[in-house]
Amino acid sequence: RHCKLLGIPVQDGAGRMGCEMGPSALRTAGLAAAITELGHRVSDLGTLSPVPSRMLSHPNAAVHHLPEVAAWTEAITAAAYEASADGMPIFLGGDHSLSAGTVAGIARRATERNRPLFLLWLDAHPDFHTLETTASGNLHGVPVAYVTGQRGFAGYFPSLAATVEPSRVGMMGIRSVDPAERAALLPTGASVYDMRMIDEHGAAPLLSRFLDRVAAENGLLHLSFDVDFLDPAIAPAVGTTVPGGATFREAHLVMEMLHDSGLVSSLDLVELNPFLDERGRTATLLVDLVASLLGRRVMDRLTRSF
Ligand code: ARG
Ligand code: MN
Ligand code: MN
Ligand code: MN
Repeated sequence: RHCKLLGIPVQDGAGRMGCEMGPSALRTAGLAAAITELGHRVSDLGTLSPVPSRMLSHPNAAVHHLPEVAAWTEAITAAAYEASADGMPIFLGGDHSLSAGTVAGIARRATERNRPLFLLWLDAHPDFHTLETTASGNLHGVPVAYVTGQRGFAGYFPSLAATVEPSRVGMMGIRSVDPAERAALLPTGASVYDMRMIDEHGAAPLLSRFLDRVAAENGLLHLSFDVDFLDPAIAPAVGTTVPGGATFREAHLVMEMLHDSGLVSSLDLVELNPFLDERGRTATLLVDLVASLLGRRVMDRLTRSF
């Protein structure tokens, strides 16, 4: 594969500063070398800057940094569309507001290719607020609502060339949902595999079911990986920790299964806040997880069944 790294140092969507250092930390942790070692080609496209922002204010006075995030979204959408012309783009965040742009750009590309785009959202949170419903006002809480075409973004965020069908969204690791998000998500048909479902059934059968659908529709699959998907005990470098997250083994299993499926065509690594890390351990874990996604395995399997 040809992996294309693009740094997106946005932090205005998060409630605290530090995510702008995420791309540097991922590079420092050896992301490019880990991918190269697996036999893939890596190009580093460098680091994106936002377009100039224009004045914007929203009736919901809680909303923070709307002009900045809107400007970033415009730049990110264009860059993601361009990066997806060939190869596998890997977007290095930056807070999760960046996925408003990456998914929008990839969705435009998928539509032009007549391929349905599926979105796998690995996160403690569904990030399904609209500009009206967000109470924290942190815009990393809105990207899924935006890219699936929920109401209320027009005139604030860039208009979308293509939306993602909510029924083609799968979420895993969910364990912190605000009431307005729950109410809005329920009727959409998105597959929300929350932590209880992972505990009851295991991650593997849930993920298999989702991947079978992607394959059956010959879909493209964008993976959006929020650090807080992981348990805070193994991944402390994130501003929105929630207890009870994915374990080291669950997270690796998910990445290995995604690798075996061959379906992932683009990736976001978001919410890494290196200011909160412990000697780079979270950044290093993310690099290991990307390696699993791209084919590293403990044992080459002799048989697929047992
Ligand atoms: N739902 C909460 C909020 O809107 C948390 C969002 C966390 N999102 C994230 N990308 N970390 O503030
Ligand atoms: Mn701020
Ligand atoms: Mn998130
Ligand atoms: Mn989150």
